[in-house]
Amino acid sequence: MSQIELHGITKRFGDHRAVDRIDLAIARGGMTVFVGPSGCGKTTLLRLIAGLEDPDEGRLLIDDEDMTGTAPAQRGLAMVFQSYALYPHMTVRANIGFALKLAGMARPEIDARVERVAAMLHLTPYLDRRPAALSGGQRQRVAIGRAVVREPRAFLFDEPLSNLDAALRGRMRVELRRLQQELGTTAIYVTHDQAEAMTMADRIVVFRDGRIEQAGRPLELYHRPANRFVAGFIGSPAMNFLAGPRAATFGAAEIAIRPEDLTVAAEGWSGTVTVVEHLGAESYVHLVLEDGAPLVLRSRPGEEPANGAKLRVAPVAAKVHRFGSDGLALG
Ligand SMILES: Nc1ncnc2c1ncn2[C@@H]1O[C@H](COP(=O)(O)OP(=O)(O)OP(=O)(O)O)[C@@H](O)[C@H]1O
Ligand SMILES: [Mg+2]
Repeated sequence: MSQIELHGITKRFGDHRAVDRIDLAIARGGMTVFVGPSGCGKTTLLRLIAGLEDPDEGRLLIDDEDMTGTAPAQRGLAMVFQSYALYPHMTVRANIGFALKLAGMARPEIDARVERVAAMLHLTPYLDRRPAALSGGQRQRVAIGRAVVREPRAFLFDEPLSNLDAALRGRMRVELRRLQQELGTTAIYVTHDQAEAMTMADRIVVFRDGRIEQAGRPLELYHRPANRFVAGFIGSPAMNFLAGPRAATFGAAEIAIRPEDLTVAAEGWSGTVTVVEHLGAESYVHLVLEDGAPLVLRSRPGEEPANGAKLRVAPVAAKVHRFGSDGLALG
């Protein structure tokens, strides 16, 4: 279990600061998820931590030791990428054990470790197969096995599940989380998917344009977004944003309300139903208010209004998020 600290880490590509003065302490033994839109610098930051890129400025500490200039192999970290290149001519057993063999470990010790990891990842029946004879999910587990078997100080995952279909991705998320908790190994997990971040993280770090927008526990970010960007990024369907007079009555430049925090109310804002999404356990009702502002509210199945219905809705006052003209949350 290791602690990773970043102090003022900056990486430029030409004039562009892909990673911009990042200060961050990654907690020992936890799952920290880096999330943010495409191009915000997540992969670059992970590669800087792995040592695959050198920072232009700043320092990286692993367990209080300065590792800024240290070669990747000496950092003791294991990275799993989205495109996991398995060796096609090697069996699952050989693929998982390859790094240990390179490191000169004795055969019996390699076998023991590979079998332990295979059991953990439900790969025991496939140990003598080649990658071509595995499903996508099984191949991804082999890629994870290769990282786990090295018993690294930390795991660095870069969107490792994004090549899988939605159902398998959902299952693998839970599996990976369970495995990480079982091993207690520090992990950093990169994704652009906020739902994945919410389900996997002990701590989420939200990035935009190479900078940290907010870091905190998943529900902290959900219930107390520090700014407009995080409010809009975390949660699905996204928050409803309203400006103008409706925001002014709450003393804000802009307000944001989650779909579950809107209720039908006689004194509410009036709107017209445009679309009803039936998801089974819940439904989402899309409205257009009189001035054209769109609004989504959650409804219980069986209680949805019909398309075209006129409705009045109001927010639960305590659940209204208020933002100033600078986009920062008001206290
Ligand atoms: N080798 C490179 N040379 C030049 N620019 C680069 C290089 N690598 C990344 N960039 C730029 O740095 C920025 C951050 O890229 P990065 O790959 O870290 O984003 P990301 O957050 O991982 O995005 P995604 O979610 O799409 O994977 C982008 O603007 C990208 O174009
Ligand atoms: Mg990336």
